[in-house]
Amino acid sequence: MSLPPVIAIDGPTASGKGTVASLVAQQLGFHYLDSGALYRLVALASEKHGIEVKNGPELGLLVPKLLISFKNSQIFLDGEDVSEAIRTENIGLRASALAIHPEVRLALVDLQHSFRQFPGLVADGRDMASVIFPDAVLKVFLTATASARAERRYKQLIAKGISAKLEDLLQDLQERDARDSSRGAAPLMIADGAKVLETSDLSIDQAVREVLDWYQSAIT
Ligand code: CDP
Repeated sequence: MSLPPVIAIDGPTASGKGTVASLVAQQLGFHYLDSGALYRLVALASEKHGIEVKNGPELGLLVPKLLISFKNSQIFLDGEDVSEAIRTENIGLRASALAIHPEVRLALVDLQHSFRQFPGLVADGRDMASVIFPDAVLKVFLTATASARAERRYKQLIAKGISAKLEDLLQDLQERDARDSSRGAAPLMIADGAKVLETSDLSIDQAVREVLDWYQSAIT
């Protein structure tokens, strides 16, 4: 029997891929993998365990020891609800710093593959199309200009009651873009065969509609 279909949605930070990916999954009744959350979990756990972000081998050994579970939109680490704790800018930067290590990336592969279940999966991240699900039936590279992304992130944080400065966010995301794109292991890139969706001037609904249309065309 063939494997469940995968829609891979990759893109830079704050491109809106998480929102679009989860809505596409909802519309299709598919499972959803937020792979960035896994790197954020490792960031949080390593901070708690006092492991430095530059220590790839030790971080790689930490991953299999973590008890990670997802329930609806909540994420648990060793039984504790960390859904909010992993969303800070600090944890995002830490995640991006430790995501450069092949040991960390390798340790997360099986866990990511385990999300591939019927009737299908929408997976978002940086290397969903290039490394984790190279046989995805649809590959989307979702992006927007740096200023549009900084503004979106700003609104997100303010809506959550978290104070933020637009200039700082812009600088953080440019730093993260540079690191995610230039690293040796699974860099952020437009995978072979991926369709590029520029969302600076698109609403969430329009972006979701486009991905659903592409998916219909891909399977017919
Ligand atoms: O929310 P945002 O797009 O800023 O980040 P995220 O998707 O939650 O991912 C946090 C960090 O994890 C990113 O900056 C990447 O460095 C890393 N990551 C990765 O290397 N590979 C993935 N498949 C997903 C995230």
